Amino acid sequence: MELFDVYPLYPIEPVSGKGNYVYDAAGQEYLDLYGGHAVISIGHAHPHYVDAISKQVSALGFYSNSVENSLQKEFAQRLGKACGYEDYSLFLCNSGAEANENAIKLASFHLGKEKVLAFSHAFHGRTSGAVAATDNPKIVSPFNRTANVEFVPLNDLQAVEEKLEEGGFCAVLVEGIQGVAGIQMPTDDFLRGLRELTKKYGVSLILDEIQSGYGRTGEFFAHQWAGIEPDIITVAKGIANGFPMGGVLIAPHFEAWHGMLGTTFGGNHLACAAALAVLDVIENEKLIKNANMIGEYLISELCKIPGIKEVRGRGLMIGIELDRPVAELRRRLLFEKHIFTGGAGAYTLRLLPALSIGRKEADCSLVAFKELINE
Ligand SMILES: Cc1ncc(COP(=O)(O)O)c(C=O)c1O
Repeated sequence: MELFDVYPLYPIEPVSGKGNYVYDAAGQEYLDLYGGHAVISIGHAHPHYVDAISKQVSALGFYSNSVENSLQKEFAQRLGKACGYEDYSLFLCNSGAEANENAIKLASFHLGKEKVLAFSHAFHGRTSGAVAATDNPKIVSPFNRTANVEFVPLNDLQAVEEKLEEGGFCAVLVEGIQGVAGIQMPTDDFLRGLRELTKKYGVSLILDEIQSGYGRTGEFFAHQWAGIEPDIITVAKGIANGFPMGGVLIAPHFEAWHGMLGTTFGGNHLACAAALAVLDVIENEKLIKNANMIGEYLISELCKIPGIKEVRGRGLMIGIELDRPVAELRRRLLFEKHIFTGGAGAYTLRLLPALSIGRKEADCSLVAFKELINE
């Protein structure tokens, strides 16, 4: 059997990793400025993480959600404290798309309404509801297409209000920072305005923090820079440093009933052990402060490089826009400088390194960018 060929691949195979680096079978070292799509939050093969998962899998890797699992409770409490939402509750699942799927379902159950308002160029995942709220017709199949999702431009509060006035909406769904769209920032004022409008019209505000959350921007969640509290927050990616896991943080006014949401694998023992280890490392090594510090440094230094059209982002979620396609630059960074970066659209390079990246790695990347961008 061959693999179903849906991914364009670089001819490189990392076989091991350590901290901010991965290595191929020949021992070539690569600096990882992409964290495998923003997933690696605490660095590759962190010893505390490896130890926690190894101990858990030798004790109990999985049992179903029909029995007590104190690791889930411990994780919910630790996460609530770490992100400042101690009075919210937590539903655990397995991916970002699944977290958004459940968030939309929850908002719809809560109000008994069917429509979701999303934003131009949004990306929320590839399952039915999540992809319907994703503004990319290429990946939305005829089955997924629905009149239940409408799109308005980001940062346009008037357009939001005109839609909400029409009625029928259960939620407004917005990314903390749009990632796949090329690091497009909702302004703090826009997020505050969204919070006011969703309250005024009685609909839920769902913050998709799957890429922008978990400390990446220098706050636990990107929306915390705007000082707002959404009704529902979705997380995944960095939550378990590569172990597949997603979560939905739910405000106290939502009522749960047995059977409302569910999953076989969500919140399993191994996932919880991984997620607890991630929180340990984020806290012990002060990684959110580090993301803020190194992010600020990188952004200010990148702004000084001639040839870069615009630098967008916060903390370690950075978009570098050029006035020419970035595919060739990404290829040269990888094959000549041995640096992994991401792309977003034709013209934007995306940096999403682990929150543990240091000044040395930042400087080494800046040297490579300077050289290749201006060649
Ligand atoms: C903002 C956002 N939401 C949702 C998703 C989907 O997450 P997953 O691929 O884990 O389903 C992604 C993935 O890139 C994302 O960036």
